[in-house]
Amino acid sequence: MAEKKNYCFDTLAQHACYDPKEHHGYLSEPIYEGVVQTQPNCKTAARIFSGAEEGFIYGRLGNETARIFEKRLAVLEGGEDALSFTTGMAAIRCLILKLAGLGDNIVSSRQLYGGTGHFFETEMPKQFGRGINFVDNPWDANSWAKAINCRTKAFYMEWLANPTIDLYPFLEIASMAKRHRLPLIVDSTFASPALFRPIPWGATFAVHSATKYLSCGGVNLAGAVVGPKKFLAEMRENEYLSYGAPLSAFHARFCLIGLSTLSLRMKRHSENAERLASWFWGRRFEKKKSSLGIKNVFYPNLSDSPYAVYARNFMPEGCGGVFSVEFDCSLEKCAKFIDSLKIFSIAPSLGECKSLVIMPSLTTHSKLSCVASKGTNIPPNLIRFAVGLEDPWDLIKDLRQAFSSVGAKPV
Ligand SMILES: Cc1ncc(COP(=O)(O)O)c(C=O)c1O
Repeated sequence: MAEKKNYCFDTLAQHACYDPKEHHGYLSEPIYEGVVQTQPNCKTAARIFSGAEEGFIYGRLGNETARIFEKRLAVLEGGEDALSFTTGMAAIRCLILKLAGLGDNIVSSRQLYGGTGHFFETEMPKQFGRGINFVDNPWDANSWAKAINCRTKAFYMEWLANPTIDLYPFLEIASMAKRHRLPLIVDSTFASPALFRPIPWGATFAVHSATKYLSCGGVNLAGAVVGPKKFLAEMRENEYLSYGAPLSAFHARFCLIGLSTLSLRMKRHSENAERLASWFWGRRFEKKKSSLGIKNVFYPNLSDSPYAVYARNFMPEGCGGVFSVEFDCSLEKCAKFIDSLKIFSIAPSLGECKSLVIMPSLTTHSKLSCVASKGTNIPPNLIRFAVGLEDPWDLIKDLRQAFSSVGAKPV
């Protein structure tokens, strides 16, 4: 099946952009592993080199398995094309450096994955001479406009921002970007196209750490940019070629396996996260009785969340597997609670089939100066849960015993 756009998401996730007849009859997408491909004649070689014809020349410019993944991801995201990378950071960095030249800048919200925040705050200005203008109030589209100057080249946000799972007035920000002729880049790692598709809603690019939900539960590192075909073709011929971080055929195959179960997994991740976030939300009234009080729970699908309306309008299928809890106790007590968990593993990722837990202020976000500053809303004793696919009742049992083991009364 080539690109039958009228099929639904789950059918496209299995079949889009792959015809077994073109691949020796193999039902599943083969791993085309190799380095150089010979060309039938000089004319074809020249056409492929110039970008006039699609083809494979040398592994650093892509491979056939990765190309199937790119095309399928583009279809699922509702974008024109995609480009795949070894990691999400490689995808983000390559895209930003293509959009913004020396002396240019990017306007971004502050609520970011720590690695992206570090790249924006430190690496981009120091190593690459590009600036970053953080938006004071990302919930107000005018604040995005105020951060623009004549050297601004793009707007950047995470939708389901890490680690406080923030959402923004997407349509207003997208139309502000359009008014100023700026591309809007959305890191959609936490949502995946199964839950939210930024491009049909008005973004220009979707970027992914495909290491997370897109691959099959944390089995490989990968990244991707989805966006306009012409732009990505130019990027492949220039920045991609010299950056040298293409997705291997082997890892692309894992991503394709991941896409085939994506919507099933996202549904279960979302149901589990919502159940656990609601459980914590219910416990916040225990504050006075418990030595491990709960100040706030960050998950858009909670009815008291400031983002409940956005969640309903933009993400009716669910809000993904990550939520955070701000505890009302000492850092030591938070750490002891985490250390007492038996099913949740202490690890900085998400999108795994196994549940993970982390304290962002001590780990993933510890390098950011903005963690300490007033511009961000990451509390020091915030614990982030990346809920897996286990039975939710076992996870709740685990949380209860961890509450007990730090001397807090379980409910
Ligand atoms: C939202 C988000 N974007 C990008 C990245 C970077 O991805 P990778 O680790 O694949 O480089 C991460 C990593 O955790 C992330 O959480």
